[in-house]
Amino acid sequence: MVASLGHAVLRGRKVVVSAGPTYEDIDPVRFIGNRSSGRMGFAVAEAAAQAGAEVTLVAGPVSLATPPGVAHRVDVRSATQMRDAVVAATANADIYIGAAAVGDYRPAEVSDHKIKKRDGAALELSLAENPDILGTLAAQTVRPFLVGFAAETHDVERYARDKLARKGLDMIAANQVGGGLGFEAADNALTLYGPEGAIELPRASKTELARQLVAKIAERYAAVRG
Ligand code: CTP
Ligand code: CA
Repeated sequence: MVASLGHAVLRGRKVVVSAGPTYEDIDPVRFIGNRSSGRMGFAVAEAAAQAGAEVTLVAGPVSLATPPGVAHRVDVRSATQMRDAVVAATANADIYIGAAAVGDYRPAEVSDHKIKKRDGAALELSLAENPDILGTLAAQTVRPFLVGFAAETHDVERYARDKLARKGLDMIAANQVGGGLGFEAADNALTLYGPEGAIELPRASKTELARQLVAKIAERYAAVRG
């Protein structure tokens, strides 16, 4: 019943999903990245497409095939490239689901040549903060329904609720990273927080969890925007 409701609500809706890590170049051969595999975001994109949405998937550097039914895919590398692609793709979108693990910092300067060792002297990298993609969308007067993710190693609920409020989101999907869950793992478990309270989605494959998450997003979207 929930799944069929999701199908009805999302049919023809424009949904943008970001997925995967970002890579921030240090020099022509090195970068700062993170352990996101992109699998959760790709599963969410597939589930939204199955529910009848017109899905645009903005993907960081991942080795994953485009899921069946996904209408558009934009491949990016850095956080600023992802921000630009997401802002463009969400111009007339109904829902944005930020499943990407966006790098928080990038090297303040990118060296155009390979940085050489310095005879034992320490190397210091200066980092600049990246733009917040969800924050950028939240600041727009006309904005899509915004769903964020919060992957935390501790104090999951506190940090997730804080991000929900601070970023001005409609919903946040929080998960504990580690213990066979989360990054680089096949399984995940999520707790959804929104103005209506908390909803537990217990441990399951990322595919199954993505279906349940998309159904909950559809329900909530219908309640506030339908
Ligand atoms: N996010 C984003 N742009 C960024 C960083 C994060 O849109 N530059 C989004 C992520 O895609 C995710 C949500 O914000 O949906 C939470 O990401 P997270 O890294 O947990 O939050 P931060 O605000 O970066 O806080 P911190 O890393 O310090 O926990
Ligand atoms: Ca972060």
